Amino acid sequence: MRSVPPRARLLIVCAAFGAVGCVLPTFSQPTPWTAVVLLATLYAGCEQAVRCRFAGESAPQRLGAFFPVLLAGVFLLPPGAAGLIALPGALLAPVERRPAGPRRLWRAAQLSMACWAGATVYRALGGCTLLGAGAPAQPHFPHALLPAGAAALTFCLTLAALDGGILATAERVPLRTAWRDQLLRSLVPIAAHGLAGLMMAVLWRSPYGPVAALLVLLPMYISCWGFAQYHRERAAHQATIRALVQAVDIKDEYTRGHSERVGRAAELIARELGMPDERVEVLRFAGILHDVGKLGVPTRLLRKDGRLTPEERRVIELHPEYGHEMVRGIGFLGEARSAILHHHERLDGSGYPYGLVGRQIPEFARVVAVADAFDAMTSTRCYQRARPVEDAVAELKRCAGQQFDPRMVRALVRALDRHSWYPAVTADQPHRPHRPQDSGRNVPPSQRPSPRESATTDSATADSATSECPTSDNAAASDSAVRPSRPGAVR
Ligand SMILES: [Fe+2]
Repeated sequence: MRSVPPRARLLIVCAAFGAVGCVLPTFSQPTPWTAVVLLATLYAGCEQAVRCRFAGESAPQRLGAFFPVLLAGVFLLPPGAAGLIALPGALLAPVERRPAGPRRLWRAAQLSMACWAGATVYRALGGCTLLGAGAPAQPHFPHALLPAGAAALTFCLTLAALDGGILATAERVPLRTAWRDQLLRSLVPIAAHGLAGLMMAVLWRSPYGPVAALLVLLPMYISCWGFAQYHRERAAHQATIRALVQAVDIKDEYTRGHSERVGRAAELIARELGMPDERVEVLRFAGILHDVGKLGVPTRLLRKDGRLTPEERRVIELHPEYGHEMVRGIGFLGEARSAILHHHERLDGSGYPYGLVGRQIPEFARVVAVADAFDAMTSTRCYQRARPVEDAVAELKRCAGQQFDPRMVRALVRALDRHSWYPAVTADQPHRPHRPQDSGRNVPPSQRPSPRESATTDSATADSATSECPTSDNAAASDSAVRPSRPGAVR
């Protein structure tokens, strides 16, 4: 408990007392103890099932797969008794992270209070009457759905409020963000669990009895298991991408962190363009992996400080094709694969590897090109200083229509008006985020290059000086004062 921050500790203690206050009246009131014991045992058994070797790691315990049992209790039992059924299971449930004791106590208290609140609302709206009384009961549908929905919503809101509170106190997450995230994440699953809980409650009171009610859990468990598998697969994808990016970062130390920032900038642009979440995710992958083909380029060329020969430049310009070869068989990357192949194409056809023009260039590649150039210009590296965000944006606007898709540039500009940008993480010097109000101040004065320095040490500025558009890769930057062999000949 000592490792828990004091404010979080206080919240856990308050929640524990709150839960005790909720369940205490149960012992002085008429209570259907058989149902309480059955449901509490069932919930505890479900939580313990995740320990068994057969279910093992495939058990979807974190998805609330067993909430239908608790919600059935909300619909069948008085509020205090509903709060009681969560306690044994939550107090004995396995936890993934330490400290285990406070986590178990917190989980038990919050579930108990959520059940109590849901059952209170359900009773207040006449749910017990609508579900039918006696055995066998005659539920009144669809009217019974209203109090059931309100009870499930109350259950969800209580959990979200308490989870948000503990995140804010224990992990210093902003309260509003924590609440919003918890609510958005749990609303739909708990609505589905509420329906399953209602079915359990109806079957429980039907002539078939509690055994039939258990059958509801099986399809719920299978669907949650499938969902958990999806999450596991997604985690494996992320791990694959991280491994590839780490390999690139190790090989090309000049641009360490660049891939992640390009992924973030691409995501900002995608959100401004109103892309659906699935495409945003794939576009982020495209940004992160755009230079993965550098793994196929000799390290001595990537780290070369001096002028590149035309032959060396041609070798480096093969990296989009190398990258495409590497990821061609990775199905989940989808459109990201074409972005990796075409991220150095230019709208006017002077890019590489195929010299595509305008809309021939895939949409994802046009987004990554803007994100790539923007980060290259705003990054401080050992051979160049970061340019202010405003300068980089001006440069992108200047080259819009010639090198970059103006639509993507406008989207980035809109995104930067609303989001902070962390320009330089590759340098050892301190940095702070660019905020919309920081006009012209993203680099401390002491670190700003003089006009003369800029013109000779910064690749994009060097390009500006020769009326060319910004370059995005380190080779073009490292042979800073060197004019590229042709417009767009960058890596
Ligand atoms: Fe590249």
